[in-house]
Amino acid sequence: MSTPRGHTVAVLAGDGIGPEVVAEARKAAEAAGARFGFGLDWVDYDLGADRYLRTGEALPDAVLEELREVDAILLGAVGRPDVPPGVLERGLLLRLRFELDLYVNFRPVKLYPGVASPLADVKPDDIDLVVVRENTEGVYVGAGGTVHRGGPAEAATETSIETRAGVERCLRFAASKARQRAGRLTLVHKTNVLVHAGDLWQRAAGEVAAETGVALDYAHADAACLYLVNDPGRFDVIVTDNLFGDILTDLGAAIAGGLGTAASANLNPDSSPSLFEPVHGSAPDIAGSGRANPVAAVLSASLLLDHLGEREAAAAVEAGAVAALPGAAGYSTQALGDRIATAVAGGGSPD
Ligand code: IPM
Ligand code: MN
Repeated sequence: MSTPRGHTVAVLAGDGIGPEVVAEARKAAEAAGARFGFGLDWVDYDLGADRYLRTGEALPDAVLEELREVDAILLGAVGRPDVPPGVLERGLLLRLRFELDLYVNFRPVKLYPGVASPLADVKPDDIDLVVVRENTEGVYVGAGGTVHRGGPAEAATETSIETRAGVERCLRFAASKARQRAGRLTLVHKTNVLVHAGDLWQRAAGEVAAETGVALDYAHADAACLYLVNDPGRFDVIVTDNLFGDILTDLGAAIAGGLGTAASANLNPDSSPSLFEPVHGSAPDIAGSGRANPVAAVLSASLLLDHLGEREAAAAVEAGAVAALPGAAGYSTQALGDRIATAVAGGGSPD
């Protein structure tokens, strides 16, 4: 008899549509667990706007310590108009990325059958790439400040910090992904202007490519935006810094049919726990209306299962979401989640 497997997953459903989409992601993961013989122990945390407004804390230290002990974290979305911008983003999401050293933000850009891309004449196979975004450095470190605030001499700095170790570990992860895929790695930066950080990335990328045998090419960030729109098939694995990666992955989501299917994994490939979240935000305008698309959260749960080593379950959850996609707009969040869970449980289409 095989030993039952179990995984402890912390759930930070968060704000707006976060709780709605996370509920459906959980259903799909549960269905996969039942089918493939493992258990998921969900631990809910009420972090987000409500807790912040009640207590003034975005992420209490004691909660952070608890989160270090789980196997993985599933996050819905954070942010609400009644909390000043940046408070929850920096205090919760970015703090988790930094404190847990989640140095890779892995974001697939994939056009699924039945999803309409705004680009003319693209078929699903034409858009299938992944972006490996460095996730703990760059302008996100928060180094900088303001002097003479509000006066005519006001000045502000926002210093981008890149380290050899940080760049190299991100490149190594990207190269390993490229080796699992078509073996093509594209560094995206802006070496013609950012000569210092660009030089560091370029030298490190050359070395990692030579060591690992992947084919390396390079595109400036502005040109990469152009190519994503007029020739997305040229990319297999893109590796880039934190801010370029942030911007490129919203464009990536757009060409692959929007934020409804864009998933992400904030990874520490060397130790757990990693954090999985849809790329979309809390969308307060549609919260509670049943119109949120749960697929991005479901696909994030698929990445989570894959990271936990549940490869078959991860593939089944992705296949379930893909099977439910054609005509998805006609279903409520919950009805679509039910269709996905049915497909995952049965290993077939939801009909
Ligand atoms: C993302 C988001 C975050 C980022 C925000 C919410 C801080 O846009 O995950 O892409 O800039 O990284
Ligand atoms: Mn973003």
